[in-house]
Amino acid sequence: MKTIFSGIQPSGTITLGNYIGAMLQFVELQNDYNCYFCIVDQHAITVPQDRLELRKNIRSLAALYLAVGIDPEKATLFIQSEVPAHAQAGWMMQCISYIGELERMTQFKDKSSGKDAVSASLLTYPPLMAADILLYNTDLVPVGEDQKQHMELTRDLAERFNKKYGDVLTIPDIRIPEVGARIMSLQEPTKKMSKSDPNNKAFITPLDDPKQIVKKIKSAVTDSEGIVKFDKINKPGISNLLSIYSILGNKTISELEEMYQGKGYGDFKGDLAQVVLNVFEPIQEKYNHLMESTELDRILDEGAEKANQVASKTLKKMENAMGLGRKRR
Ligand code: AQP
Repeated sequence: MKTIFSGIQPSGTITLGNYIGAMLQFVELQNDYNCYFCIVDQHAITVPQDRLELRKNIRSLAALYLAVGIDPEKATLFIQSEVPAHAQAGWMMQCISYIGELERMTQFKDKSSGKDAVSASLLTYPPLMAADILLYNTDLVPVGEDQKQHMELTRDLAERFNKKYGDVLTIPDIRIPEVGARIMSLQEPTKKMSKSDPNNKAFITPLDDPKQIVKKIKSAVTDSEGIVKFDKINKPGISNLLSIYSILGNKTISELEEMYQGKGYGDFKGDLAQVVLNVFEPIQEKYNHLMESTELDRILDEGAEKANQVASKTLKKMENAMGLGRKRR
């Protein structure tokens, strides 16, 4: 069975973008692959976090993974900081990275632009992401389009490591969904939907109150033409909503364009809100149950143990290859 690794940052509550671009794929793939799904809390601290809020978000993300359908019998769910090999291998990956290539990462440019104080980790987290993936001999990484550049760097670093130190690391492939790889902000539809967007109306989360979800969709920025038609360049707002409707409502874009011919954006948005609620309401119910149970800690403990076993083996191989410490088996 081939191996999959993917992670999500507990930097807020997952958005519809994370759900469509990442989690929906995870649920499907867990049946056919040996899957590791990680709560990458060490990535979240590359920007300032309130410690109590971070703890809450870690637990909440774990419950959300399970509520959307990740089955701990099939996949390993764990928290990155509970597996020390990540930070250790992350350092080794930093040592073979070049500053120039890290400075070219668009996420670094976006997240650091206009900031007075930028942490060094914002620049060096892509090598940590590479370590996250490489520790599990990962064959495939399912992510949204925004992670494509980091994935290319991961492959480059793995190849560089192998060339210098011998054939130790598996070179992973990237898997980006054909539709929904980049869900856009509801308020600025040329910008990607992000859970850390300071404008709460820009994103929807599975934990939003149903009334809030309806309100956010109804106030999503569109255009003044009033025609439901997919045109990413000239109509980014309505095109984004059409993509969301198509994925969650299991209809093609052309079917939707036909369904809403002659109807205004009001009808379309009202129906889309219902489609989103149909998906998110059961998730919210399962989430509430999990947050009150002790099951969550048991699953995370077992996940950390399993992940530790695999990751520490690869770490040892990497250390031996690089000549760190004393030779161990
Ligand atoms: N808007 C999006 N559309 C499709 N996929 C998306 N992903 C993120 N945003 C979208 C995918 O979700 C997974 C987890 O992402 P992450 O939490 O590790 O970091 P991110 O990509 O930086 O996500 P956010 O929501 O934008 O977080 P913040 O605001 O903290 O930076 C990845 O597979 C990603 O591709």
